[in-house]
Amino acid sequence: MSADTNTFENVKAVILSCHKNSTSEEKVNFYNTWAENYDQDVAVLDYRAPSLAANSISTHFSGDREAAVVLDVACGTGLVAQQMKRHGFGHFVGIDGSQAMLEVARESGLYQDLKQCMLGEGQLPVQWGLFDVVVIVGAFSVGQVPVDVVRELCKSTKPGGYICMTTRSNHDNLQYKASLERELKQMEEEELWTCVEYSQVEDWERAVSEQEHGYISGAVYIYKKL
Ligand SMILES: C[S@@+](CC[C@H](N)C(=O)[O-])C[C@H]1O[C@@H](n2cnc3c(N)ncnc32)[C@H](O)[C@@H]1O
Repeated sequence: MSADTNTFENVKAVILSCHKNSTSEEKVNFYNTWAENYDQDVAVLDYRAPSLAANSISTHFSGDREAAVVLDVACGTGLVAQQMKRHGFGHFVGIDGSQAMLEVARESGLYQDLKQCMLGEGQLPVQWGLFDVVVIVGAFSVGQVPVDVVRELCKSTKPGGYICMTTRSNHDNLQYKASLERELKQMEEEELWTCVEYSQVEDWERAVSEQEHGYISGAVYIYKKL
């Protein structure tokens, strides 16, 4: 651990300070202020969602990873691309609402293109049906990305391609998770995609709320576009 690594109590205070932000714009402004310390702070939280998502994608994807084009939605600083690169994926396009998070992602050199966009305010700024894999990690939760963006993720994916999503399963996100799952099921009934994996993970990340202790749980979903 480096000398300037934050303590768990400090990181908890940073995250709790963001809970008062109710609109997406306020949340994204919070990420603008957090960008510089985000990677080291989420390491303190034992935030494993990017590696769990990348492992699940790797289990199901059987195509040419070098050639595959991945759309990383709410890419933040680039932790998901970093993990997917370890599994052999080489081409990434990133979208995020926070200019400062995108700046850190740009410095990583992992992305061939990065776009600033508020998710939930109009269409995704990408071509429909272009991407082999579309992934969204750590952003489908209450107060962040609205559930209906899930349809945009599906539209952006090539037929036969994969969509990977994560969400938290702790108390304050249960209502959001239920509405996300209703939409995922509805889209399966509309034969837009089929579920190939649903994993509930108990030790998702360290709890930061005053009511929870230890680790909170979370979930990874993988759908295949029909
Ligand atoms: C917890 S971070 C996750 C970043 C990255 N996927 C990861 O796992 O490290 C959430 C990201 O979602 C972005 N975000 C949240 N709500 C958004 C919205 N409505 N529109 C665009 N970006 C949003 C934030 O700017 C932030 O970069």
